[in-house]
Amino acid sequence: MNTLLEVKNLSIGIRKGKEILSAVDNISFTVEAGEIVGIVGESGCGKSLTALSIPSLLSQGAERTGGSIRFNDLELSNLSPEEMQHIRGNDLSMVFQEPQSSLNPLLKIGAQIAEPLTIHGEKDKAFIHSRVIDLMEKLGLSDPEKLLSVYPHQLSGGMCQRVMIALAVICKPKLLIADEPTTALDVTIQVQILELLKKINTELGTSILFISHDLSVISRLCDRVLVMYAGKIVESGRVREVFTNPVHEYTRGLLGSIPDRTRKGKPLASIPGKVPSLEEGRPAGCPFNPRCSKAVKQCRNSFPAEADLGGGHRVHCVLAEQAAEYSVKLPAEKEGTHGD
Ligand SMILES: Nc1ncnc2c1ncn2[C@@H]1O[C@H](COP(=O)(O)OP(=O)(O)O)[C@@H](O)[C@H]1O
Ligand SMILES: [Mg+2]
Repeated sequence: MNTLLEVKNLSIGIRKGKEILSAVDNISFTVEAGEIVGIVGESGCGKSLTALSIPSLLSQGAERTGGSIRFNDLELSNLSPEEMQHIRGNDLSMVFQEPQSSLNPLLKIGAQIAEPLTIHGEKDKAFIHSRVIDLMEKLGLSDPEKLLSVYPHQLSGGMCQRVMIALAVICKPKLLIADEPTTALDVTIQVQILELLKKINTELGTSILFISHDLSVISRLCDRVLVMYAGKIVESGRVREVFTNPVHEYTRGLLGSIPDRTRKGKPLASIPGKVPSLEEGRPAGCPFNPRCSKAVKQCRNSFPAEADLGGGHRVHCVLAEQAAEYSVKLPAEKEGTHGD
């Protein structure tokens, strides 16, 4: 496989007065051409900062403090804002959680979907029109001709997200970054959007970096997953492998929070405690140690080196040697939903 995106030792800080608080701490990962990679973790773990740093969209107060981001053989951190602008919406595009607020309320849907084409220099109106209609049909936007002249407020949340996705992929990006694109939608629409993303991946060959706090959504869509806790990647690997043989207590805790039919009526096991805020400061050693029932002294002293469990499954945990002992199985009905 060809590596499309290579993030190496990325750190992101949040400026608080004279101090810079570490929000993303020295993370590395790749996205291969054609692959769907998920980032999962509770709210506040640094998923969105990671996603936004790739197309240089970090908001004021947040900044990359180290590391490199290589995309399609270009080092993104060396690019000028103009060069970055050219890549955004072209080879690299992004969709967010709130489709309504990302769309321009004053612009008709057709013009919005076409905008990336016109921004990147396409002038042929007939070509633009046929490309927009063709894409809308592909993405299951029914009655596309009529939809062209509608405004965002006339559409449901699910339709707005389809429109956002259409305008994100009209220039056939090599990589689509989707940050919680289904979180604001109800479950049936969620499933349709996930199917749509899968279709884009298969039919356009677009790689996807998909961010969600919801493991079950990740398991439906992704080939590979990165589990992120308090600014660090604690475990990663193929979805099926990580979710059937989770090693890190954090991954195991997240899996315990997934509702399933076998536990109907019983309360969900949730991980005790919460993600430490940046202001409280991240604990020394493994950041999960205060919430981990298996923590030993070593966990409070240093963040464990990466242990390679084989087949691309990697974990940062002192208990990694006992991985075999940790092996658990997901409920049988979940098996069929994995992404590979
Ligand atoms: N622009 C910002 N200014 C101040 N704090 C921020 C900013 N962006 C993110 N943070 C903080 O950084 C941490 C990680 O945020 P984020 O990447 O949004 O987490 P996630 O997407 O995993 O929920 C959170 O504690 C959040 O409050
Ligand atoms: Mg987020």
